[in-house]
Amino acid sequence: PRGVVTIPVVVHILWNAAAQNIEDAQIHRQLDVLNADFRARNADLRLVPAVWQDRVGDARIEFALATADPTGSPTTGITRTRTGVRSFGANDAVKSARGGGADAWPADRYLNIWVCQLGGGLLGYAQFPGGPPETDGVVLLHSATGLGGTATSPFDLGRTATHEVGHWLNLRHIWGDDGEGCSGSDFVADTPNQAGPNTGRPGWPLLSCGNGPDGDMFMNYMDYTDDAAMCLYTKGQVERMDACLAGPRSTLLN
Ligand code: ARG
Ligand code: ZN
Ligand code: CA
Repeated sequence: PRGVVTIPVVVHILWNAAAQNIEDAQIHRQLDVLNADFRARNADLRLVPAVWQDRVGDARIEFALATADPTGSPTTGITRTRTGVRSFGANDAVKSARGGGADAWPADRYLNIWVCQLGGGLLGYAQFPGGPPETDGVVLLHSATGLGGTATSPFDLGRTATHEVGHWLNLRHIWGDDGEGCSGSDFVADTPNQAGPNTGRPGWPLLSCGNGPDGDMFMNYMDYTDDAAMCLYTKGQVERMDACLAGPRSTLLN
């Protein structure tokens, strides 16, 4: 396998109410969480049941705020834009100045993360590889970003970004996106077949789709459990992320 790679990140903060203009420290702590989670160095890995400890995968991906902007000038890797939009939706308006948001930096060179107010209970959303570059990246609700500042329980440990960056690297939801059925797949061999999304902080084991005795891997980042309940990517998920970085997202590594 390849060595550790570092992905340059730009965070675009869009704010209407002043509180949405979150501090650099909240962003920096978010990057710390991504770096722990994608290296399997997070302190809560012990929450993985013993039977699955050997499935824990180190994605060997690190994230660093960009130090050069698209023209080559020095940058903090954080842009701040005041907007007239009180709340964004999943329609990508946040990703363009025209829509009241901020334009993407070239998606072949940066992971774009937009942080803003989102409506409808949405914590974040992501674009899978292969889509239009102008809208490529991840959107996060400011209060589900990082730790401290405006981050609000139970989504205050930075795991929304971990989940959304998983999608950006081609991971599917662990239950297979088939409603509550047992026929959908996440196309990963070492995650159990699971009916629908789990929420909150379930007790283990939690069975569905005849997946006993160990049941659902609800502590996986690609489920919908609380930040404090999720703590791993599997080796199979890491293989999918590897394939993405070797294929459609290989330009990020230059
Ligand atoms: N796209 C998902 C949503 O908006 C994100 C779920 C993130 N889960 C979490 N524990 N932070 O519902
Ligand atoms: Zn998702
Ligand atoms: Ca399912």
